[in-house]
Amino acid sequence: MERPASAVKELVENALDAEARVVSVDLREGGAELIRVADDGHGISVEELPLALERHATSKLARDEDLDAIATLGFRGEALAAICAVSRFTVTSRARGAADGLRVAGEGGTVSQRLAVPAEVGTSVEVHDLFFNTPARLKFLKAPTTELAASLRAVGQLALAHPRVQFRVTNGGRAALTAPAATDLRQRIGALWSWETAGRLLEVDRTEHGVRIAGWASPPDVTRGGRDDIVMVVNDRPVRDPALLQAVLAAYRPLLPRDRFPLVVLAVTLAASDVDANVHPTKAWVRFRQPRVVQEMVVAALHEALRRPAVVPALGAAAARPTEAAVVPEGAVGEQAALFQEAVAEYRASRFGRVLGQVQETFIVATTDAEVFFLDQHVVHERVIFEQVRDQLEAGPLPSQALLFPETLDLGPAARALLERWRAPLERLGFAFEGFGGDAIVLRAVPTLLKGDEPKRLVEGAVEELADPKATAPTLERALAFVACRAAVKADTVLAVDEMQRLVSDLEATDTPYFCPHGRPIVSRVSMHDIRRELKRTW
Ligand SMILES: Nc1ncnc2c1ncn2[C@@H]1O[C@H](COP(=O)(O)OP(=O)(O)OP(=O)(O)O)[C@@H](O)[C@H]1O
Ligand SMILES: [Mg+2]
Repeated sequence: MERPASAVKELVENALDAEARVVSVDLREGGAELIRVADDGHGISVEELPLALERHATSKLARDEDLDAIATLGFRGEALAAICAVSRFTVTSRARGAADGLRVAGEGGTVSQRLAVPAEVGTSVEVHDLFFNTPARLKFLKAPTTELAASLRAVGQLALAHPRVQFRVTNGGRAALTAPAATDLRQRIGALWSWETAGRLLEVDRTEHGVRIAGWASPPDVTRGGRDDIVMVVNDRPVRDPALLQAVLAAYRPLLPRDRFPLVVLAVTLAASDVDANVHPTKAWVRFRQPRVVQEMVVAALHEALRRPAVVPALGAAAARPTEAAVVPEGAVGEQAALFQEAVAEYRASRFGRVLGQVQETFIVATTDAEVFFLDQHVVHERVIFEQVRDQLEAGPLPSQALLFPETLDLGPAARALLERWRAPLERLGFAFEGFGGDAIVLRAVPTLLKGDEPKRLVEGAVEELADPKATAPTLERALAFVACRAAVKADTVLAVDEMQRLVSDLEATDTPYFCPHGRPIVSRVSMHDIRRELKRTW
């Protein structure tokens, strides 16, 4: 027991273990003067109540084996005893089915009163003058507002882990946290963090290897200055697992400026025997039997959510910047950029703002009032082509360019077998082959988008890409990603500002402007806020 918040956490956990539907926490002076936690759970029987205050008394583990698969938040039988040892306490409880309640009171761990009282079913623990008999710990208490904040954090996390339970916290009689019983996690987030924020979050839900990762995560433009709103819950227990936190940050790394953090609530659910909650004095850490699997799943689940179309924020009126129609210098970007020859679409309010120029003939630099973006021109174009071609494919096969001189492909048996298998998707993309089934395979046509490439190398590249054993996406999508990559403007290519503005604008219109089809990040960003701070600008 380090501070009021530790006691609050333990008492609320006990209420949740007792299956309470309503948990009320009343504090005075941030908990230093009074902590009262009342619940409507199943209560403690008259016989068990004195026992419950003793060390190593728990009702939650019936057999030794239960310790290998802990299903409750508490399991050590220490918390109540530890709290009563350093306070003046009153515990009142009436068990379900009992006619009366029992109240025991005392201080410094010794019970001095025992009284039958009328009471509602449930338990109420009152803790006055925490640490009154341990001056050293008393000295370390911080200001009431700081202690209150710590308690609110603890209750907030438990409230996110248990959305269906109603929570209420007051301090000095004033409401400090109110969370009505919710039907789902998003509702609970709305009550705790704001409905507007909750409305912007992306749903995360992925199950694999017997592990489910479910919850809500912010899109890249909804961030905080700290990590407090990254909440990880493992089997209903909020945990502080550095590796899981790192997994979350890794998933967001390409998307967020340094010093900005996402809002994430993820519930990790797995067999109780695959996780050990008994590894840390405050039970805030857990040990997974297969930590890597869980970490990788967190990254995968978040990436999946972040790549979904909803990531694109509604574009506001701000930063609208109509631009002249792009004029393409003849031959400036070569055959590969069929994109540039299309009619110029209407420019919309821009998320990446205005293009300033190009760095190292590879990165497009753009800026809004709030941020500077570095966009990898190749990856930008790849994403744009990928989505355009994907939409085109819905109408039918892609346009094909017949080869003047059909090429005989000299393929090894493995590559040949693969090509036979992938013939259909490749032909939808505009390739045309002949001579399957014994004869030499002849390449008759290539996708018009790729007509500038060397045909044989193109087929080799496609086979290589499709044979990647690590890939999980459907074949057509991978073939499409291949075409997009080949057709996209390369690094080390000079682009005119108009062309870059056009590319950025097209990127903004895509469903997933933050990752290329292979999952590589597209944008790196620096916030003007950071720049001002570093340069000590006061405005
Ligand atoms: N709010 C409550 N409602 C019902 N029973 C409770 C409540 N609080 C405590 N108890 C009973 O008192 C026992 C002791 O509680 P305590 O918190 O000390 O231990 P624990 O929850 O079993 O384990 P841990 O020390 O890990 O929290 C519990 O096992 C439970 O039987
Ligand atoms: Mg407990």
